[in-house]
Amino acid sequence: MKIIFHEEEGIFHLSNEKLSYIIRIMENGQLEQIYFGKRIHDREGLSHFHEEALRSQMSICIPEPGKLSLNYTRQEYPGYGSGDYRSPAFVIRQENGSRVSDFRYRSHEIFPGKEPLLPLPATYAEDPDEALSLKITLFDELTEAELCLSYTIYRDYPVITRNARFLSHGKGKLYLERALSMSLEFPDKDYQLLQLSGAWGRERYVKKRPLEMGLQGIQSLNGTCSGAEQNPFLALLRGNADEFQGEVYGFSLVYSGNFLAQAEVSTFDLTRLMLGIHPEGFCWELGEGESFQTPEVVLVYSDQGLNGMSRSFHRLYRKRLMRGKWRDLPRPILLNNWEATFFDFDEEKILRIAKKAKEVGAELFVLDDGWFGKRNNDYQGLGDWQANLEKLPDGIAGLSRKIEALGLHFGLWVELEMVNKDSELYRAHPDWLIGVPGRFESHARHQYVLDFSRQEVVDYLYEEIAKIIRSSFLSYIKWDMNRYMTEPYSRALPAERQGEMMHRYILGVYQLYRRLTEEFPEILFESCASGGARFDAGLMYFAPQTWCSDDTDAGERMKIQYGTSYVYPIVSMGSHVSAVPNMQVYRRTPLETRANVAYFGTFGYELDLNLLPEEEIEEVKKQVRFMKEHRELLQVDGDFYRLKNPFEGNETAWMVVSRDQRKAIAAYYQRLNYVNASAIRLRLRGLKPDSLYALSCDLSPCLEMREPIFGAELSLEGEGLRSYRAYGDELMEAGIPIKREDLSKKGGDFASLLFLIREEGE
Ligand code: DGJ
Repeated sequence: MKIIFHEEEGIFHLSNEKLSYIIRIMENGQLEQIYFGKRIHDREGLSHFHEEALRSQMSICIPEPGKLSLNYTRQEYPGYGSGDYRSPAFVIRQENGSRVSDFRYRSHEIFPGKEPLLPLPATYAEDPDEALSLKITLFDELTEAELCLSYTIYRDYPVITRNARFLSHGKGKLYLERALSMSLEFPDKDYQLLQLSGAWGRERYVKKRPLEMGLQGIQSLNGTCSGAEQNPFLALLRGNADEFQGEVYGFSLVYSGNFLAQAEVSTFDLTRLMLGIHPEGFCWELGEGESFQTPEVVLVYSDQGLNGMSRSFHRLYRKRLMRGKWRDLPRPILLNNWEATFFDFDEEKILRIAKKAKEVGAELFVLDDGWFGKRNNDYQGLGDWQANLEKLPDGIAGLSRKIEALGLHFGLWVELEMVNKDSELYRAHPDWLIGVPGRFESHARHQYVLDFSRQEVVDYLYEEIAKIIRSSFLSYIKWDMNRYMTEPYSRALPAERQGEMMHRYILGVYQLYRRLTEEFPEILFESCASGGARFDAGLMYFAPQTWCSDDTDAGERMKIQYGTSYVYPIVSMGSHVSAVPNMQVYRRTPLETRANVAYFGTFGYELDLNLLPEEEIEEVKKQVRFMKEHRELLQVDGDFYRLKNPFEGNETAWMVVSRDQRKAIAAYYQRLNYVNASAIRLRLRGLKPDSLYALSCDLSPCLEMREPIFGAELSLEGEGLRSYRAYGDELMEAGIPIKREDLSKKGGDFASLLFLIREEGE
């Protein structure tokens, strides 16, 4: 890893073994982007990459006889108003009403390691030798404003991280109306744009489209979170790149609030890609000495297709975004009572469910919504974080003791950002709501958003929740958030600062997370927002796992988890086995398949195990043993590969391979069963071609198929384990033949097969 500065040409070259990123100081002092992609040699003379094409109606931004037009120039962080008519990365309104600025290079600094981005979450370097950072300072003389563009390159990850910081030194006020985290330009437009889009219950579906001239992009404007609809991530796939080959650029924003991610193709076929806080409704006032820090963007370059891109995100996010004790640990197998009871429970029922969870080998019991205030339905109680003693006579402290006495750890659900009007908190502080005085306040799930941009609100909730944690045995917190913001307005901010409210809200959320994770570092936090509406890298810094979706149907989860894996490691995906028929899609899937999907996540159960017949309980015990045996590989050590794409056909397949390539687990799932259909091959990835592996697969019929169907017509012959030895190259090139009869025995529709692969001698 190197950052070389060629002083004479004003060129910075950041590189590691995999990539190069090159920036040039132009004649006008602004910055130009020269190259981002596969590593290239460093040399003098790279300024010839500046491609000037002066055409009619292009404006020149340096004195005659110089020639430099910004409209055709690939700028590093473009501003507004000097002849570049594409979208700018930032806009600063000044007291005289002008929005024009001109930031010119002033100085730079190269240093080992990486600075934190407080108060924002960001990736980090643990040891100064593992990363190098470059900070370029630019200055706008007229407004006396400073702009700092920061870059980090890691030794071991093919990524660059970027952010921008504005600092005002002048007497006049500045109003930052747009402050994206980065802009990046490519010299062509031969790319597919990939995004993760969806809605509640079908989050992060994979969408791909070719780039076209003009604007295309995604956004979130809901105020409270990154959203179920769009994820703060985009990828560009060059030409015909796919999962396994070709060049891919991935961009992930480390932020949980309103965002904009867009690609703009100019009429000269330049592609400008931007990510950052959404400018809609945003305006940040900067007085003398005040600064504004943008969130970080992580840029990944892969020459091994989308899987290569995802592996880089996964490795970085697992090791240098997640923090604390849980970063390196396999996750506890839990049972959550939500789908088992909803609001209808008391202590006796909870203990009965927990006892059975212990019996099957689970390690953590999580009490979900409904334990506090008068919360017997979703009309009441949010905001009153005291146990409902009618349901739990000994409170949370007492229940947590009893759960611990069963030999389980105890976890608790909270939704701290919300309030019901029917609550003591609302009656005491009606002005803590977000909303415009005199206007109707929209509601969702009968609840309202607390104004987390206010310090006293964050302080109050910190005390309330800290009290509970201090007085009970708590190992895990599920932090939920179940509605988007409406009528965005803070009753505490002055008129000229209302544009700061939504960002301040997210900073309030981060602050509360930071205080709780610092005071209680042992606790495992799982974030959640009506399922997966807040699955982003910003929250992953505090909560190393996120409830992936309220849709727990195995068939739907294949898609949701597949899409989520483009950016986020599987250890971050909350995934549970739930009851059938599934409560969202009313589908019945085999118990085995439900587990086979949930293994590729945090793994747990979301049902009352007391209602299962004994043979299913035995199956559940087997599943728990399997996960305990293999979770180190699945969650901590292994690399994840997507093999078959559920958005393109009837099949899904993926696998995890240990870093030393000696062990792997692969899973194959189908949606519908076909009769008399074509043969199936599953080609694996990531193995050592010359090594001999033992492969095994349990082919005994799944529980649902053990009853003879149509008398004895479905032959159950061949029950038991199939195993054989094969070289890595055979498994990767020729693949594993999958038999249709095996899929029928495994349940037909939504059948699945799990393969264990071990290098001989392992
Ligand atoms: C939404 C979550 O996604 C569910 O898992 C559950 O916690 C409910 N909220 C509780 O209200």
